[in-house]
Order: sequence, then C-alpha cells, then structure tokens
Amino acid sequence: MKTKLIISAIMLSGFLAMSCQTGKQKDHEKITKTSVPVKKIDSLLSLMTLDEKLGMIHANSSFTSGGMARLGIPELVMSDGPHGVRHEHGRGWFALEDADDKATYLPVGICLASTWNRELGYKYGEVLGNEAKERGKNVILGPGVNIIRSPLNGRNFEYLSEDPYLTAEMAVGYIKGVQDQGIATCVKHYAANNQETDRHNIDVIVSKRALNEIYFPGFKAAVQQGGAWSIMGAYNKVNGQYTTHHKYLNNEILKGEWGFDGVVISDWGSVNDTREALIYGTDIEMGTELVKSFHNPDYDDFYLARHAKKMIESGEIEEEYVDDKVRRILKLMYRSTALGRHEPGKRNVPEHQQLALKVAQEGIVLLKNDGLLPLDKNKLRTVAVIGHNATRLFAERGGSSQVKPLYEITPLEGIKNLLGDDVEVLYAEGYEPYYDESLFRDASGEAASQSRANKKNVEVAKKANQGLIRDAIALAQKADAVIFVGGWIHGHEGMPWGKGTYDAEARDKLNMKLPFGQEDLISEINLVNRNTVVVLKGGSNVEMNNWLPETRAYLHAWYAGMEGGTAIAQILFGEINPSGKLPMTFANSHLDYPSHSIGEFPGNKTVQYTEDIYVGYRYFDTQGKEVTFPFGFGLSYTSFEFSDLKLTQMDNKVLVECTVTNTGSRSGAEVAQIYVHQMEASVDRPVKELKGFEKVMLEPGESTNITIELDKSAFSFYHPEKLEWTLEPGVFEIRAGSASNHLPLKGIVEIDY
Ligand code: BGC
Repeated sequence: MKTKLIISAIMLSGFLAMSCQTGKQKDHEKITKTSVPVKKIDSLLSLMTLDEKLGMIHANSSFTSGGMARLGIPELVMSDGPHGVRHEHGRGWFALEDADDKATYLPVGICLASTWNRELGYKYGEVLGNEAKERGKNVILGPGVNIIRSPLNGRNFEYLSEDPYLTAEMAVGYIKGVQDQGIATCVKHYAANNQETDRHNIDVIVSKRALNEIYFPGFKAAVQQGGAWSIMGAYNKVNGQYTTHHKYLNNEILKGEWGFDGVVISDWGSVNDTREALIYGTDIEMGTELVKSFHNPDYDDFYLARHAKKMIESGEIEEEYVDDKVRRILKLMYRSTALGRHEPGKRNVPEHQQLALKVAQEGIVLLKNDGLLPLDKNKLRTVAVIGHNATRLFAERGGSSQVKPLYEITPLEGIKNLLGDDVEVLYAEGYEPYYDESLFRDASGEAASQSRANKKNVEVAKKANQGLIRDAIALAQKADAVIFVGGWIHGHEGMPWGKGTYDAEARDKLNMKLPFGQEDLISEINLVNRNTVVVLKGGSNVEMNNWLPETRAYLHAWYAGMEGGTAIAQILFGEINPSGKLPMTFANSHLDYPSHSIGEFPGNKTVQYTEDIYVGYRYFDTQGKEVTFPFGFGLSYTSFEFSDLKLTQMDNKVLVECTVTNTGSRSGAEVAQIYVHQMEASVDRPVKELKGFEKVMLEPGESTNITIELDKSAFSFYHPEKLEWTLEPGVFEIRAGSASNHLPLKGIVEIDY
C-alpha cells in the first residue's frame, strides 16, 4: 500500500479544530437490490406474438403502457414526479374531480439540492416511492437532473444544480430511496434539455467534452450508482439527432459504455421517427397523442405501433430490436411493484409531512443578514407581512410537476402559527400578479409579442396595484418589523395551461426582473421600515441591484413544499438555524451567465453551447467575474471555521481531511466543500470544480474531522480529441471551505498515476 503524506496544507484563513466526519449515507450506500428472473422473461417473450410485443412498447393511455392479460402481464403505470405523486388523470388528460389522489407536496428539486444533504435525498425518495406505491403506480417520473445552464429556464425549479457533481450526489440518494420501495425512477430528461423554448424542435450543438463533463454525470451516476431502472429521453435534439432515439446518447453511451439495462421511456411526445426509435434505444413511446391526436388518441398510430409492425414485417428492421425492449420492460416489471414486490405503501402520513418540513428547513437559503435575523418575537408587538406570495398556493401549478396536496402552509399561516397570540400579525397583499405576455416566452419559440392589448392590460393592472401599494406602506409604517414575501409564481389562475407562467414547464423567462412592480414596492417599504426582511420564492434568482443594497436581510425560499410556510417562519424567528447553500450561482443579470454571454439561450432551431464546459461558477470563477451570491454560498446564525487540512495519497486515491468547528453560540450545520484544480494541463480546465462535500451538524464550540476520498474521477477530464476520460499526471490544488468563494484551506497534491 502506497501512502504518501501530502505537502503544504496551507491555511489561508480561519482556524479550526474538530472531530470527525461521518455522514456517509448509510441506508443508501448499497445499490437497490433487484432480482430478475431472466429465464422467465425469455420464456414469456417466446410466447408472445409480434402484436403483443408491440403492445408493450407504447402507451395505451395517458400514463400507462400496454400489458398482456393472456400472460398475466399488467400495464405499466406511471406518474409525475418529481416532487410529489401527481393527481389522477384516469386514462385521459383531464384531472379526475373526485379522485382520492391527494399527496405529500415536497419541496421542489432545487430546494432539495440546496440542502446538500444526501441522506435527505434518500428520505425524499422514500416518501415519493411510498406514496407512488400506495397510489398503485410502478414508475415515478423523476428526478429531473438537467443542468441549470441559464437562470431563465422555466423548469429550473424542478432540477437540481448547475454543477454535475452536486446533481449526481443528490440524485443518487433520491433514486435509491424511491426504488427501495419497489417503484422505478425515470430520470429525466436525457440529455441537454436546458431550455423550454421551442423544446420539441431545438438542436443543441454541444461538444462531447461538455456532454461528458457537465450534462451526462447526473445520468451516469443515476445508472451506475443509483441503479435507476428507467431514463426519460428529452424533447430536444443533440448534434442533429433527437435525444429520445439517439445513436450516441442511447446506444453508445447509456446502454453501451454505462451498461444501463433498464428502460428508455420517451418524454410525452418526444418520439419523432419509427426507424430511429426502433434501433436507437427508445423502449417505450409515451404521449404521442399530445402532438398527433389529443382529443381522439389512436394508440395504434404511435410510431412504435402499426408503423413499427410494418417495418418489421417487411424485414427492414429485425424483430430482435423489439425483443430487447420487451425484455427490458419485463425486467423493470420484476424489479418493481408491477410484477415483483407488493408491500403496501403509505400516503399523507405525518412522517412524510415532517420530511417535507425538514427538507424545507435545510433547503431555504439565507443570503443576506446584517444582524436583523433572527427576529426576536419577545421584542415585537406587530409584524407586517406584505406580499402576494405570503398567501399564494403553489402545489397545483408549474406544469407536469403539479401535486394536489393534503394542505399547504403559506408563509402567512406559518408566521401566524409560530407567533400565536404573542405578536399581532398584519397582512397586506402589496401587489397582485397580472398577466404580462412580455415577461415570458412560450414553447413555440416565439418571444411573446408586446401587443397593444397586453400593454393596456398591464397598465390597468399596474394602476390597480397602486392602491395595494398604498395599503402596504401604511402597514409597514406602523409595524415593528416587515416580512415581505414575493418573487416568482408558477402561473395565473384563469389562464389556459402554461399561459402567463414563469417558473413552469413549456416557458422560459425573458429576464430576471422581479415582476409585478415588486422592486419599487420593496424599496418603498425599506424607506419606511428599516426592520424589513425580504423572502423570495422562485426556481432561480432575480435581479437584485435595485433593492438588495438597502435590504437588511434576504431569504431565498424556492418553492418549499407543503410545510414551506412553517419552515420560513421557523428560520425567520430563529427556531431553525438555516443551513441551505446555493446549488447555482446568483449573478445579477441573465446576461452575465455564460449561456447568454458566450453561448446561446434560448435558441430557435439550434442552440450553440459555445461556453462548452464553462457553466455556472466554472465560468464566473475562471473568468474572475463578480457575482451577487456565489455557488455553494449560504449564511447561518452561527459561525464556522475550517482548519487542519491534510492530504494523503493512498491506493490511487487522495484522502482529504480537515476540521470544522462551530465557533458561534448556536448549534448549526455547515457544508464542507472540496474543490479541485489542475494547475497545468494540455487542455483548458476550470479554476475549481466541486468534487466532494459533507454536511455536518455541530453544537457551539464543537469540532469534527471530515474525511473525503477523491478517486481518479475527481482529477480527470474528458479528452476532446481522444474522446475518453483522461487523467493527466500533474499538480493539483485542493481547496476546502464553506462556499465556492470561501475556501480558506488549500493544499497541493502531485498525482503520477
Ligand atoms: C414533461 C415530462 C413529464 C411528462 C408527463 C412532459 O411534458 O416534459 O417531464 O414527465 O410530460 O407528464
């Protein structure tokens, strides 16, 4: 065994002590156990006619694919996903009014990722899996692991991070949690599905290096570490071919290099070609009626139905392609509740609501605090809660991820519940959202026009808001403290699906300006009450330079699930010490992001990913560009120090050890983050890349030692010419700390293997 103690652990700042890390996720270290009766599958297959096989590889209702009663094979039953089991549709597309389908509304994906807590990822999956099982589903359509490339993507709230490593780590726990319940995950949307604009047609032009280093790792980890049983193809093309039937993505990488033995399910309406779907890896075609015959679905007209039959019968395509798909589907069925396990599930139980609360408590991020927070309820007589989002419900909007919750605690309710009768809580709406088509861009690819009618509506709405603003300011003047709750919304009541939505499927935002006059409102409140906290909801960030400087405290609450209001109140009043960290960079304008400043976002027809691997902090930090709040950043009510970095090489691995100490007076959690940089390489490499993290909970004065193991993959890059993962021997800098901009510990390691 080769052991080499590494050199120069330089402590740049801070000083620490501490004890020992721990937190390796226990329950989900094992890959989900599966037992697949291969002989049984072969024998079933041998008994099937071509028609029967084809019946299994495409939808036979909105969320089922066909089974075969003759051989005792049930339909495969699917449901969205990704942060709760969606309402029932029956066999069509309209919500069933009186269905018993309420479910736990979990915080959205980006809130889960902000916890940086792998164990919570697993538990989140367990809740989903359990509820899916109780509702009779076999497949949950999630997690969403697409990389957050631009802050304007309408679906960022469903995804996890701009960073492939954080995405992968959080997805793996989720997947194991779901699948340990006998429910398949369907990890989506593979791959490079980073905009909604023109999502059915766009062709993403991206290098193989960027695919492998940035856009694939979440999916690769889902398959190789999470053991995912299915993957959802995306709508878009990549380098000229539709991703759902893509030779490189499916045959060479997913089913080839990564050894995926599960099922590729199309996105709903993402199959575009029978021949390609047969030979390039699509195993189940779903949702084609959405693009072909919505009101009168003809499932036999699906690409993988009679059109496939014709090709096979004419000898153009071998039947073996269909056999492979059916084998995979049967395998998934035996692994899951479809043909395998049959334990009962649980739904809407208190422990699921508690888990939703826990994720919200750890995922909400405190970004600014000059000492105003936590608010001390003993010192307040009146609190003014201002803002439409303090009372708005979010669960049932946003597109396919909507959930019908048992209940949803709004911020106003959360604050009232916490304060009880001790403090008077006043409420003013402050502004009303209005439909402004100039704020978003729809999936047809057209930037919505600023029609005269729209301009007029907006003027009328703005006028109406003047009264609300006046009332709000009057309230702010007389309160001891103000909690402003605003931000984005998913959509407008009374609008057709997708219309007037911001954080929602099939829409991208046009910019990051806080809508509905909120910037001015915040500034006016700040003028009349200096004890004002801003709480924003949203799937990503907003422009802040007009209101942040004079704002004393700012909490970013994402869409924090059915207990989100409780968690917001607990953080504001100090019952919970915040520990969320940003999983994406918050820059001030979308134009600052590399997808806009170097690459294209959105594109019509084609989108050039010219920024290549320089997504998020990889770009900002390598270019030395200032941002408002960096990746990995998040404040606490206590303070932490990092010390004693030790780097040890052992068996082609580097052990990174350091100490974290809680130097403040409250217990709290900190995320130790490890970044790697190759000092010299034959290709361009970012100045830092996240390669390890661990979240630790510490009492005041307590220390812990953290040990993180970096294997070869932490030092390798995807060689743009050799087209393979490559580790070039050389000197690497390893840095540790609490955020990508606060890495006080630095050491050097020389790797020669
Ligand atoms: C979405 C998927 C979703 C599917 C089924 C599609 O439009 O892109 O994420 O799972 O619909 O609802």
